[in-house]
Amino acid sequence: MTAQAGPPAILVSRLLPEPAVALARSRARVDAYDKDAAMPRAELLARLKGKQGLICVISEVIDEALLTANPDLRVVSNVAVGFNNVDVAACTQRGVVVTNTPDVLTDTTADFAWTLLMATARRLVEADHYVRENRFQQWEYMLLLGGDIHGKTLGVVGFGRIGRAMARRARGFGMRVLYQDAVAADAATERDLGATRTDLATLLRESDFVTLHTPFLPETRHLLNAETLRSMKKTAYLINAARGPVVDEAALVRALKEGWIAGAGLDVFEEEPRVHPGLIGLPNVVLAPHIASASLETRLKMATLAVENCLAVLEGKTPPTPVNPEVL
Ligand code: DGY
Repeated sequence: MTAQAGPPAILVSRLLPEPAVALARSRARVDAYDKDAAMPRAELLARLKGKQGLICVISEVIDEALLTANPDLRVVSNVAVGFNNVDVAACTQRGVVVTNTPDVLTDTTADFAWTLLMATARRLVEADHYVRENRFQQWEYMLLLGGDIHGKTLGVVGFGRIGRAMARRARGFGMRVLYQDAVAADAATERDLGATRTDLATLLRESDFVTLHTPFLPETRHLLNAETLRSMKKTAYLINAARGPVVDEAALVRALKEGWIAGAGLDVFEEEPRVHPGLIGLPNVVLAPHIASASLETRLKMATLAVENCLAVLEGKTPPTPVNPEVL
């Protein structure tokens, strides 16, 4: 390990909102990438040399190789609530603190998942194309009939902060809410949100909308696959604003083509930024480029929290939102 002289050195691997970077510059020596694109791996490794802090986004893979090459690193501050791009066990083993950005993006993400849900059920993208293509020549009674949302059953898979925020929104639509999670919410939360815990099979069988809010873990990979998709109602919609690999995309293409389910709204994909070619031509899926937390306000809050996390660790303080607090 190199002896640290003066303020700590931080690499910011992505173009982030300037006020957040300015906060980092006020207390550290900052080397900031100036592009809103993934930093090439070789450049990331080279520029990280000798630095104690890394502020990165989900496209950076933080693995054994990166940690071995950078023994000075003390904190990996991910600008995201999800951290499946980071080998947390390897960081913990080396005493590297990992932090994420929960809470500040909960409502913005739920707003967008809800937007996808409504756009999918009410065929908003098809309707927009219809008008732009000058096909709106007369009012038609049976045109673009969608599915109702109010009064239906919402199935929330993963009942953490964002899953609960979805349940809260469902109350305004008079929906019945089922949820599946390894951990039961307390009785007051269930009462407050009008949510009932159930197993996945029941949730998939009974829900009109299934919305995914589970982290990507080995056990959630392809949770929605040919078998589970087939168990959903033919009139149901699937919404995924969590992580792409939770859904087997090839099976989803079949489900949408062959009418196993009515539609899907996707903000995330199995191999981002690649989108399964079978999805592109389908009218009953609404696609977005992983933007659920992308409001001006929230992206600034996420970047600021990531900077605060990074600076706290480097200044010997407890970071606001550590992922592996046992290292502190
Ligand atoms: C997250 O926070 O995990 C999002 O997917 C990226 O902003």
